[in-house]
Amino acid sequence: MKYALITGACINTGVAIVEKFLSEGVGVVFTGRNAEKVAAAKEGYLEKFPEATVLGYTLDSLLDERTVNEAAIDALFTTLDEKGIFIEHLVLNAADQGLGMKIFENPLTDFMRVLNTNVTWNYALCERAALRMKKHGGGSIVFVNSNTAYRAIPDRIAYEASKGGQLGMMRGLALDLGKYGIRVNAVLPGMIRTDRWVKNPDFYKDVPSRFTPLGDVADGADVADAVWYFAAHARNTTGAELVVDGGNMIQLYPIIPKEQ
Ligand SMILES: NC(=O)c1ccc[n+]([C@@H]2O[C@H](COP(=O)([O-])OP(=O)(O)OC[C@H]3O[C@@H](n4cnc5c(N)ncnc54)[C@H](OP(=O)(O)O)[C@@H]3O)[C@@H](O)[C@H]2O)c1
Repeated sequence: MKYALITGACINTGVAIVEKFLSEGVGVVFTGRNAEKVAAAKEGYLEKFPEATVLGYTLDSLLDERTVNEAAIDALFTTLDEKGIFIEHLVLNAADQGLGMKIFENPLTDFMRVLNTNVTWNYALCERAALRMKKHGGGSIVFVNSNTAYRAIPDRIAYEASKGGQLGMMRGLALDLGKYGIRVNAVLPGMIRTDRWVKNPDFYKDVPSRFTPLGDVADGADVADAVWYFAAHARNTTGAELVVDGGNMIQLYPIIPKEQ
């Protein structure tokens, strides 16, 4: 059986990605930071896909803001090795959103925390996964990146730096791992409809990134389709970016309808 490792998949976009892979008959190993939420998410997946092979792992990126928990990554891959599970597809979906970070207020360790999760931790996951893909003759890695790698939004400097850094890392990995048959690509969503829309409708009602040429933001399933394309279909594509933002990024400024 083919397996995918999908990070940060107890809620929102990660769930849509897991469901896409399960619906295509791929076995899924997913992570979350909280054991109870991981168990609940696994139950939800099995309810929807009773025949599926799905394993949940509790995995937090950091020991503290400055230190990636490398031992936890090694423990995960050792467990998978012992179970005979080869991860053919690595999907790096988990992210520290780095919300509300003010340049003159937040300590430097907040910046480090976001960079360490979104760049350094993902690098360490790629290294462990790629080592095994190399032995098996290939595999694919997909970053769930963001259009904020190119376009800034307020109070998210660390997040934007991390997503820009992720794209540089994606290209570097694609270049260095191509000779082993390992493809590395990135999906760049704009705004995604998550549970935060439900919790805070007043805020999202006025968010300019809703006003796209296509007139809507992405659903998790739109992002999952793009991830699946890179993982399963893009045989001769590596180091590439696929933007899923309703055309938001091509605009000089959003055209907000008068009636809004
Ligand atoms: N939502 C958007 O509008 C949007 C737009 C563009 C790009 N994206 C990107 O799309 C991806 C998914 O976004 P989302 O909004 O669905 O994410 P989300 O709801 O914020 O969930 C993020 C996931 O990452 C995990 N996570 C967070 N910090 C972590 C850490 N330190 N160590 C390990 N796991 C951690 C969370 O685990 P827990 O479940 O344990 O909390 C959660 O499962 C992210 O890469 C994000 O940057 C999102």
